[in-house]
Amino acid sequence: MLRRASFAIACAVAACFLGTGDGGPKSTASARPPACARRGPLRITPLDVQRVGSTVALARFGDRTVAYVADEDDRDLHTFDVDGARELVTTPLHGAPSQLLVTRDGRVVVALRDRAALEVLEPHVYPEEPLDERCAVETPDEPVALAMTPDDATLLVSSGWGHRISALAGETLAPVFERTLAREPRGVVVSDDGKQAFVTHAVGGKMSVVDLAAPHAVRSVDMGEHGDLRSPERVALVPRERTFDENGNLKKPKPITEATPRAACQGFALARTFEPSGRVLAPEVLVDTGDHEASPRGYGNAGALPTEMATVAVVDTATGEPVEASLTVQLGVQIGDKGDGRKECLLPRAAAVDAVSGTLLVACLGLDAVVAYDAAAAQPVNAEVRRWEVPGGPTGIAVDTVGRKAVVWAQFDRAVDILGLGDPLFEQSTTVRVSLSRQATPASEHDLAMGRRLFHTGIARDGRACASCHPDGRDDSLVWSTPDGTRQTPTLVGRLEGTAPYGWNGTSATLEQHLASTFSRLNASALDGRQAEALLAYVMQLPAPAAPSRAGSPDEIARGREIFHGAEAACSSCHGMDGHSPDGLKHTVVGTGEFDTPSLRFVSGTAPYFHDGKYASLEDMLAATDGAMGKTGQLSPEDRRALETYLRSL
Ligand code: HEC
Ligand code: HEC
Repeated sequence: MLRRASFAIACAVAACFLGTGDGGPKSTASARPPACARRGPLRITPLDVQRVGSTVALARFGDRTVAYVADEDDRDLHTFDVDGARELVTTPLHGAPSQLLVTRDGRVVVALRDRAALEVLEPHVYPEEPLDERCAVETPDEPVALAMTPDDATLLVSSGWGHRISALAGETLAPVFERTLAREPRGVVVSDDGKQAFVTHAVGGKMSVVDLAAPHAVRSVDMGEHGDLRSPERVALVPRERTFDENGNLKKPKPITEATPRAACQGFALARTFEPSGRVLAPEVLVDTGDHEASPRGYGNAGALPTEMATVAVVDTATGEPVEASLTVQLGVQIGDKGDGRKECLLPRAAAVDAVSGTLLVACLGLDAVVAYDAAAAQPVNAEVRRWEVPGGPTGIAVDTVGRKAVVWAQFDRAVDILGLGDPLFEQSTTVRVSLSRQATPASEHDLAMGRRLFHTGIARDGRACASCHPDGRDDSLVWSTPDGTRQTPTLVGRLEGTAPYGWNGTSATLEQHLASTFSRLNASALDGRQAEALLAYVMQLPAPAAPSRAGSPDEIARGREIFHGAEAACSSCHGMDGHSPDGLKHTVVGTGEFDTPSLRFVSGTAPYFHDGKYASLEDMLAATDGAMGKTGQLSPEDRRALETYLRSL
């Protein structure tokens, strides 16, 4: 995630067409390289039986076990000898890798998050040599996760910013089909029978279930709180905040008969079990954003329970529905931990199943731990069997079932941990830790690295981190109750420079002030000066999603731009040139209350809209705000569409 100079390696394959970053529309069909297939003899076989991508993948290379590690900071691939516990070589990549996967026909497929492409590599004669580049294949914006069907015939790619799933032929990587999904898809896994793909979403609380057979229907499953929301025990835990009317008189509390279901968030990781089969396991967090009629002291007021509670959702692949028990809030769990000091996994980022011990291993950012749960339990989160401390920033995990090892990649500390999966009673200190090589780091990046750690640290009294509500520096799409009323979490990526003041009401003149207010709302102890600076430096340079180049045709975008800057709609009179130099003033546009004009950068991917999230889509917003926020009622349907398309291109 930290920015570095990119490698100036020449593309070895004539047909390689990796984008130059100019964002021009590209054609998938014409740009396809002739051959992605393996050329040399079969040298590696994957050890992963689940056929899912991660930032670390294990393979047999001759009689050795190697791990391939995707290093997003250095934009390269490390080859690591697992038996010898040492790094063998690094292979430069054309972009920042998100996940990689070893195919059964002996290639390594790497998703390049910032290049909207997959890079396909093939090992050379010895594992000590860099891998050979085979080809590159275009994907929708920001490919984040990979999975294969059980027969390796189809490769699935989920794209976060492009919010799509793409299916490619396993061998040639020719496109098979593509479907649009909800916001921010992340992990993908295919059911045992190869018929359905399951996709988690970092925000929005849903799981997408995609039919792999034509017509490739997509279904959306609610992953939020299930169970009996009317049960007296559950209702008793509903927050009761005192509310006051305009004259400052205490309002009579409404009788409460049922709880508001918690929304799901942080759907990044995904795995499937073999025994019992037919279960997909999705570590996630259940969020209570608070009573929207109350004004709590901070962000949310969850009453007797913490605002965020970890769970592992179990989805039955036969019905495609979650098992209710796994999404039922456990009563009596103590704030932020399990009562014995064990913190909950609030930022799950990777998961893998160990078929021998029947456990689900989850890598947790913030905790810097791998937690093992009983994969067969009805409510795995309450069946924790083991946990390991790992280095900072675990983003990937791979299991060698036969060798009884799990290999973890910790991006922040840039280290590999080899965890022994044998019986803990007989194996004492089986963890082996090896730091991987890195390119020389300029001093300024040490502070960014510190900022990134702080962003993912549970600084709030109840364990929340900045990344809890701003996953990947974006937004959780949730509307929180706050001291000022309900407020939708704004995205931070690309939105902070030159957009003061901050907060929907523009109450913080500077980011430092806003940070102080955030700390107070989270009931967190303050950072020292250098830490606060590092955190803000990190937030200011969060990697932006790829330029949303595919919003529409250049002509349509140009027409929309004309309307945006024209006299009638006059959007630019407040939002400024291209929506990204807001006037810094407060306006009342709809309803009551004055709000600071927001930046519209990346607005296509930040639904819902307005301070209280009252509009689900840009279409709804434009239809409802005519006259109140620029004049749009006079626009022809084509022009209205052009304006929308232009907004999506910002
Ligand atoms: C509980 C969810 C939550 C957490 C945790 C959280 N934020 Fe926010 N953030 C919000 C909400 C909601 C707003 C809008 C607040 C408002 O307007 O009053 C916001 C606003 C912001 C803004 C202002 C953006 C703008 O364009 O005006 C910044 C910057 C920010 N947060 C950074 C952070 C940082 C850094 C952290 C960690 C220290 C953090 N947030 C933790 C929910 C959260
Ligand atoms: C008078 C100043 C003003 C004008 C003119 C104006 N806006 Fe806004 N815009 C605002 C303010 C203030 C908000 C925040 C309102 C709120 O949250 O209640 C906003 C919010 C938005 C949002 C939602 C942003 C988000 O992240 O939720 C979009 C999109 C938007 N405006 C687009 C437009 C377009 C398109 C036009 C022209 C048709 C326009 N605006 C004209 C002031 C203005």
